Amino acid sequence: MSLRARWQATATLVARTRDVLDARPGDPRWQGDGGAPAALAARGWASHLLSLSDARVEALETRGTDADWGDAPPSLAAMLHDARAVCAMPSLRAEGATRPARRLETPRKRAQIDAFAEVIVPLASRATRVVDVGSGHGHLTREIAGRIATPVVGLERDAALANRARALPSSGAAAFAVTDVLRDGLSFSAGDCAIGLHACGELGDAMVESVGRVEGDARVSIALVGCCLQKRRAASRRPLVRVGEDRQSRELAERSELAALESALELPRPLLGLSNLTARDEGVEATRAENVAGRERRLALHRLLSARVGALRLGAEIDGLNRRAAQGDLSSLVARAFGHRGLAMPSSPEIEAAAAWARTEHARARRLSLPRSMLARVLEVFVLLDRAVYLEERGFTVSVGTVFASSVSARNLGLVGSR
Ligand SMILES: C[S@@+](CC[C@H](N)C(=O)[O-])C[C@H]1O[C@@H](n2cnc3c(N)ncnc32)[C@H](O)[C@@H]1O
Repeated sequence: MSLRARWQATATLVARTRDVLDARPGDPRWQGDGGAPAALAARGWASHLLSLSDARVEALETRGTDADWGDAPPSLAAMLHDARAVCAMPSLRAEGATRPARRLETPRKRAQIDAFAEVIVPLASRATRVVDVGSGHGHLTREIAGRIATPVVGLERDAALANRARALPSSGAAAFAVTDVLRDGLSFSAGDCAIGLHACGELGDAMVESVGRVEGDARVSIALVGCCLQKRRAASRRPLVRVGEDRQSRELAERSELAALESALELPRPLLGLSNLTARDEGVEATRAENVAGRERRLALHRLLSARVGALRLGAEIDGLNRRAAQGDLSSLVARAFGHRGLAMPSSPEIEAAAAWARTEHARARRLSLPRSMLARVLEVFVLLDRAVYLEERGFTVSVGTVFASSVSARNLGLVGSR
């Protein structure tokens, strides 16, 4: 199947399920009174999901679309089938040698870099300059510089990180420049190879658009693994690929569905961030069980704050606090959130009542969230294919696939393109 056809299949699935994606089950509108998002009730999924046992929920959350969904309603089974199909990816990676970790390099980062370097080196060795966008500590920059004779430069907006990267030993010609590429601009020339490991959000799109702008048929290449798609200045992401350029889309246009497809594919930040919530048993920051407990505590806090200050956007309960604040016990979380807002602390019985309410509501929300979470990877795949097709339309030969195992990092989708 061509990349464009895969883009189309993924776009169609996103558009068809956009109401499921938009209905966040923890939303106060659906809480209590047996309410469920209309998107799930109308499809006849809500009662099935709410009847699932804790053990089933656990298994479905952990194994995702690969789990045995057994007696799921046929339309839910069909959606899971389509999600599995669009998310099937080859591995881009050739096996490489392992090496000891560098200073300040975690074992996970080392595994990511070893795998990604195998993908990059064949491209980079044909380049006249390699540019590592969002180079962080510069481990990848230095790894590539140590393997090829070409100059390698890391671009990093955080001056402290760039300085740390400069101070670490390197076996090749790695240089680091401090620049915010979204503010200062990012431009590539003939002979460049742009690389980015976990180039977050908008950075990945900026890289793709910048290499796509290199004039004519000049040699240029890119190897990109994105992450944190929600990190962008705008409130939403519009596809880079124009809807309606291919025959299938023109037919849709004739049926006046083009505008609907275009708006369904404009993804707001909360949807782009959905993939970060993917269940992780070996998470970097917290295990899945800890994340589940943390979400329950946040729901209880949301309830307590709403009772005090009135309607509150979901997520706003931890505004001004570190994301990890929800990892402690509920009383400390409440004390920090109320303290931050200058509010008097609720009583212990109030906290206990909110905790009990949150347990019930969270159990419901977990079940009703299942279809939506099964679509998280689909959104990630859509952005990957969107970037890939954009480059293909500009004369690049592009491959997409996984670069490392999900146990090393769940954000493991990459694209490699050259022209
Ligand atoms: C998720 S980290 C990845 C770092 C590194 N590539 C790695 O894999 O360890 C993303 C990096 O991009 C940097 N970054 C984000 N936006 C940037 C921008 N607009 N210009 C330059 N660097 C940016 C961040 O400071 C951060 O170091």
